[in-house]
Amino acid sequence: RDLYGPGRANSRGVEFGHRASLEGLLAEIAQGARQACRAEPLVDGRPGAGQKRTLLSPIDGTTLVGEVTEASPETADRAMAAAQAGFSAWSRTPAETRAKALLRAADLLEERRGALLHLLQVEAGKTLDDAVSEVREAVDFCRYYAAQGRTLFGEGEPMPGPTGESNVLRLRGRGVFVAISPWNFPLAIFLGQVTAALVAGNAVVAKPAEQTPLIAALAVRILHEAGVPASALHLVPGDGRVGARLVESPLAAGVVFTGSTEVARIINRTLAAKDSAIVPLIAETGGINGMIVDATALPEQVADDVVMSAFRSAGQRCSALRLLFVQDDVADRMIEMIAGSARELKLGDPREVSTHIGPVIDAEAKERLEAHVRAMTRSAKVRYAGEAPAAGTYVAPHIFELDRPEALAEEVFGPILHVVRYRADRLDDMLRAIEATGYGLTLGIHSRIDATVQRIADRLSVGNVYVNRNMIGAVVGVQPFGGHGLSGTGPKAGGPHYLLRFATEQTVTVNT
Ligand code: SER
Repeated sequence: RDLYGPGRANSRGVEFGHRASLEGLLAEIAQGARQACRAEPLVDGRPGAGQKRTLLSPIDGTTLVGEVTEASPETADRAMAAAQAGFSAWSRTPAETRAKALLRAADLLEERRGALLHLLQVEAGKTLDDAVSEVREAVDFCRYYAAQGRTLFGEGEPMPGPTGESNVLRLRGRGVFVAISPWNFPLAIFLGQVTAALVAGNAVVAKPAEQTPLIAALAVRILHEAGVPASALHLVPGDGRVGARLVESPLAAGVVFTGSTEVARIINRTLAAKDSAIVPLIAETGGINGMIVDATALPEQVADDVVMSAFRSAGQRCSALRLLFVQDDVADRMIEMIAGSARELKLGDPREVSTHIGPVIDAEAKERLEAHVRAMTRSAKVRYAGEAPAAGTYVAPHIFELDRPEALAEEVFGPILHVVRYRADRLDDMLRAIEATGYGLTLGIHSRIDATVQRIADRLSVGNVYVNRNMIGAVVGVQPFGGHGLSGTGPKAGGPHYLLRFATEQTVTVNT
């Protein structure tokens, strides 16, 4: 079936080099910044009880961004019960109506772009470029899932059968979906999860990351305004304890989670231990993502793509490059060029248009990353060490050369790149090392030998393979995104199979 109809298109970008466009954008953000920022639990559209907390910006550690009320356990329970009640009407609402609410939400996101960009910058520390890309991705998710949802969840699909019998297969929502989202894409992934679950006919209880509840609250207000009933979408800000409460609830009919592998495992165990129905988990987690660069690669392009993949968004993308493998014949030159490009990066206030790298999310992340830098400085060769501003939670980009890939034992979620040089006849050992991590999210290959590219892509079980380009920034409906093994369960977000996992199937056979 044609899921999307004619002419599906992704949202438009902003030409930063065009002065009037840029000034218009900055004016929209200044306007958006005037809005008061508050997040609180929303159960049936009404504020729920909890503990208040103020949020300070990672840009300088002192600017007040807003206030959040974190849901108490009782509020979380009430949200689950209210969602269970709301499911009944929402699941019977025609798919076309549900899809229209998502389309309206996409338009509202574009209209309110200024306020969203402002929050992405001050609450999550995003550069302007990253913030604009994220709003676009959020808009794309709404429109993409709306288009799919109205087809998949509309009329059932007639199945062939004998004369005198009609058979129809139809897809329906499962019940209450718990959506737990991360701080690194606090708008796009939050909305991607929530809109997918909603358009499939589920009611949703959403728990955004504790670091970024404000933008999630704004997104929920937009969805409600767009026509998603308050009884179908409830918000419960809070930390992992709130998430655990939701997952433990006997009312949870499905969980969609993006975050660490460790937390995905805990959720999986919690769901598996239940005596009630078997509840599906859709998890997108991390990766120790590799890129292989052989001697035929174009050095200038490699330098650009490596710097982009490892350092953009301060390395806080699950797709980011962590482990670069460079063939030894070209290793020194390549590493020098990469370090040269890294040296050009400007770190600092992400609201300045010329900034390439903003802060990491919070002081805890900064400490963890700096501890890793100290350990690597002792055990590996430092090939590049940048500098970071003192105020705020900035982490200087680093490049370390390791003797062997196993020296990087875990995902390091920041602007730190690890390089290993390999002999051409030992490439298979490198591929084995990538396999041995157990992760399988993104993989980069820079080579002009088609057979090498094909062999590596065939050999490794990774979700997204990028050849002769950077390896981040998957586009909705263009590069469906998600990994294998320790990197997640699938199906891929922004791909044609995602919504199916949010649904149950029912076959109706009628003797005519
Ligand atoms: N979807 C994001 C990317 O492709 C995830 O980190 O970069």
